[in-house]
Amino acid sequence: MNGRARARHADAGPDDRSEGEPWWREAVVYEVYVKSFADGDGDGLGDLDGATARLDHLVSLGVDALWLTPCFPSPDRDGGYDVADYFRVADVYGGDPALERLIEAAHSRGIRILLDLVPNHCSTEHAWFRAALREPPGGTHRRRFLFRDGRGPNGDEPPNNWRSTFGGPAWTRVREADGTQGQWYLHLFDPGQADFDWRNPEVPAYFERVLRHWFGRGVDGFRVDVAHGLLKAPGLPDYDPELDLATPMTNQPDVHDVYRAWRALADGYLPGRELAFVAEAWAPTAADAAAYVRAGELHQAFYFDLVMRPWDAAQVRGSVQTGLEALGTVREEVLGENGELAWTLENHDVFRSVTRYGLLERTGPVPSEPHAAAVRPRGVADVELGRARARAAALFLLALPGPVYLYQGEELGLPEVLDLPDDRRQDPIARRGDGSDLGRDGCRVPLPWSADAPTFGFSPPDAHAEPWLPQPASFAALAADAQSDDPRSTLTLYRQALALRRERIVGAPRTVEWLDVAVRDDVVAYRRGDLVMATNFGAEPFVLPPSWGAVLLRSDGAEGRVLAGSSAVWLEAP
Ligand code: GLC
Repeated sequence: MNGRARARHADAGPDDRSEGEPWWREAVVYEVYVKSFADGDGDGLGDLDGATARLDHLVSLGVDALWLTPCFPSPDRDGGYDVADYFRVADVYGGDPALERLIEAAHSRGIRILLDLVPNHCSTEHAWFRAALREPPGGTHRRRFLFRDGRGPNGDEPPNNWRSTFGGPAWTRVREADGTQGQWYLHLFDPGQADFDWRNPEVPAYFERVLRHWFGRGVDGFRVDVAHGLLKAPGLPDYDPELDLATPMTNQPDVHDVYRAWRALADGYLPGRELAFVAEAWAPTAADAAAYVRAGELHQAFYFDLVMRPWDAAQVRGSVQTGLEALGTVREEVLGENGELAWTLENHDVFRSVTRYGLLERTGPVPSEPHAAAVRPRGVADVELGRARARAAALFLLALPGPVYLYQGEELGLPEVLDLPDDRRQDPIARRGDGSDLGRDGCRVPLPWSADAPTFGFSPPDAHAEPWLPQPASFAALAADAQSDDPRSTLTLYRQALALRRERIVGAPRTVEWLDVAVRDDVVAYRRGDLVMATNFGAEPFVLPPSWGAVLLRSDGAEGRVLAGSSAVWLEAP
C-alpha cells in the first residue's frame, strides 16, 4: 500500500493490515509447469535451467513466488506426480545443480520458490513400493501402503468399491513374489501411484525428512498435492454417493494433525525464513477448505470453487462471498497464525479460463464425472469473448484480500488447446477414461515465447527434439514477445495489474464491501480500501457512477466511463 493510502487507513480497526505481514498473505504466486515452461537443453521438455533463463519474464510480470510442479525422478505416468525419489531433482530437469541455480537466481530477484510435495502417493517405482512387492503380506514396507486382501472366494474382487479419480477401480492386484495372485493396493489416482498409509508413523516421519531436506536447500515452501487425501476413513468402508454425506477417501478430520505438525516444523525451522505451504485440498464446502488454514495449520489453501463457476455475476459474486465468509469463521481476531484461501482461475488440471469463460454452448460428450464436467466442460467456445472475460476475471480476483495463484500462460491469454491429436495425449485421464473427458494436456502445451522462432522459442533453435506436446499455429500471435510492447495485450494488462496491486492493494483493509449496482444484476462491484473493482458480466455497456472514483485500469484497455460487457475496471475511490 502506498504511504498516502496507508495513512488514510491507519485507524481502520482490528481488520486492518499492519506492516510486517508475512510475504505469503497477499502474494501473487505463479505456477511453473516445468515440463512446458521453457526447454533449456533442447530435448523438447521444459527444465529448470530453461526456467532460470526466463526469470526476467516473471520479474517484469511482478510475481512474488513460483510454484514448480514436480521435478523429481519419476516414470511420468502422471506428469511427475508419481514420484520415485523425493530427495533428488531428476536429471531430465537438470538435477540438483539446476535447482540450486534457479533458487539462487530467483532469490536474487526477490522471488521465492515453492516445490510440489506429493505426500498422498508415490510411484510404484519408489524403493519402498518395490520392496513391498518382494515382501509377504504384512511386511514392513507393505504396511507403509494400503495393501489389503481382495473380497470374494478367491480374493479376486477389490477390497472395496472405491473408484480411481482417473477412472476404473482404485485398487490393483499384485502378483506375489512366488508368482501367485496376491493382495491389492490402493491408488486414488493411476495404478502407477500407490497411496501411502498415513496411519503408519513411518510415513509422516519420512515426509518430515523430505521437508527438512528441501528447506535445507533454500526452498521457501511447498504446494501440497492432494492435501485432502492423506488419511482415509478407518476400515476403508465402501462408499455410496447416494447415502453417504462425505466420502471416506478424503477430508478426514485427522488429516489436520499432519498439517499442524508441518506448520510447527516450518515455523520453527529457522527464524525469518517464512516458509509456507499451500494445500491443494478439494473440499466439499468452503468451510471444509478453510479448515486447512485454521490458526496453526497451513498458510494457504486453494479456493477452487471459483474454477467451477461459469461466467455469471451471481455465481462469481456468491462464490467469492462464500469463500470470504468461510475464512471469516476460522479467522481469529488477530491475523497471527491464520492462513489464507488462495484465489485462482487456472492450474494444470483444469481448462484454461479463456476457454471455460468463452463456452457458448455445451456440446459433445459430457464428462461422466461431475467434477470434470465443471472444470473441463466440452462445447463450443468463443476464444475472443472468453479472453475478454478472463481478463476481467483477473481484475476481479487480484483486488481481493489474500494470495492469488496464476498459471503459466494465463498472463498470455492462452486458450485450451482442444484439438491435440489423440495419439499425442499423455494424460492418464485421457488414456484411461471413456473419451468423454479430454483430460489435461490442452492446458499443458509448451509456452510460446517468440512469435517467429521455431517452437515459438520454447526450445533453443538447435533443439534435437520436438516439444513434448505440439503447439498450435495460433500461439504465434500470443507469444510473450508479440505481447510485450503492445499496450492492449493480456501480458501488459497483467503487468499493470500486478504493479498496481503491489502499490495500492496489498496491505489494504481486508473488508470487501459489495456496492449497490441498482438495476443491473449482471454488474458486480466491490470496494476494498481505496479501490473499487467493477465487472460487467453482461453484454450491455454500464456507465460507471462518478462516486466510484477515477479509473485506474481497465481490462479492455478502453478509455472513458462506459464499461463494456465482459470487462472489468479498477477505480480509485474518492
Ligand atoms: C493433483 C495434481 C494432479 C495430479 C493429482 C495426483 O490433483 O494437481 O495433476 O494428477 O494430484 O497426484
